[in-house]
Amino acid sequence: MRCWLIIRFLKGKTVVSVFSIIVPATSANVGPGFDCLGTALTLYNEFKFIPLEESRVFINVTGPEAEKVSTDENNLLYQAFMEFYRYLKQKPPSVKIEIKLGIPLARGLGSSATAILGGLLGANILAGKPLSRKQLMELAIAIEGHPDNVVPALLGGCQLTATNDMRKEVCDIPWHQEVIPVIAIPDFELSTSEARKVLPTQVGHQDAIFNTAHLGLLLRGLETGNHDWLEAALQDKLHQPFRKSLIKGYDNVYSAAVSAGAYGMVISGAGPTLLALTDTLHSEGVEIAMAKAWQQQGIKAVTHSLQVDTQGARNIVQV
Ligand code: HSE
Repeated sequence: MRCWLIIRFLKGKTVVSVFSIIVPATSANVGPGFDCLGTALTLYNEFKFIPLEESRVFINVTGPEAEKVSTDENNLLYQAFMEFYRYLKQKPPSVKIEIKLGIPLARGLGSSATAILGGLLGANILAGKPLSRKQLMELAIAIEGHPDNVVPALLGGCQLTATNDMRKEVCDIPWHQEVIPVIAIPDFELSTSEARKVLPTQVGHQDAIFNTAHLGLLLRGLETGNHDWLEAALQDKLHQPFRKSLIKGYDNVYSAAVSAGAYGMVISGAGPTLLALTDTLHSEGVEIAMAKAWQQQGIKAVTHSLQVDTQGARNIVQV
């Protein structure tokens, strides 16, 4: 389905030729890393920028679920694009933006983060790259509200973000190549705001200690591929126990994934996609088991065995 809307602007100066940016999907939290850890995955949204001579910006969306994406001022990419020019105190240029969706919407795979980064990076290129990657990252975090999707989507890899006063410290987390992320994407949506509403405002000391220990173990487990550490490390007490009731069939899919050889399974971001970690030998079986368990609950799910994207958001050669 193709959606078109024309947004009028004052005429800008066109100096850049056509270019495209791809931005990877992300899986935030990875169990105990709530709101601070996330990994980029080899699944992408693509944003093509075609500078125009006319005084207009067009937004066009194609791909699965394109009809669900607004093409007016409510479009998140458009809002990030405009935020960039507000920040620079400049008028936005005229451009046609084609959004090609490859990441399902509202499934906990960072589709919003890709839109924010697509808007900011595209605007930065059109403006002659006045902002550094770090400045773009800070703007993206301010728009998204938490770093665990936008940081890995921008930088690639698995990224841990911590705050030091007002500054963000970002740490690249090594991910062993034998640790395979398997995702199962159900055919229903769950909004992040709904999934955040069920969280308690405070947690107990014991639960905080539990997550501190498990996050530390997870980081070393991801680096070394140590099976025992990964089996223990994916547990969490800060968000998953409260959210799993929003995801029909969660316990069944969990049991199926672990029986098929996964180290464990977590909610990807705010859900409803579920992320299992396994090894190359078991990944196909884990995919089949997760899809089957959901099917038995009357839910269709698409599964993928992916890799960690190591490059992050990038400008690709235009043909
Ligand atoms: N850390 C966030 C959450 C990610 O779990 O709510 C959602 O995009």
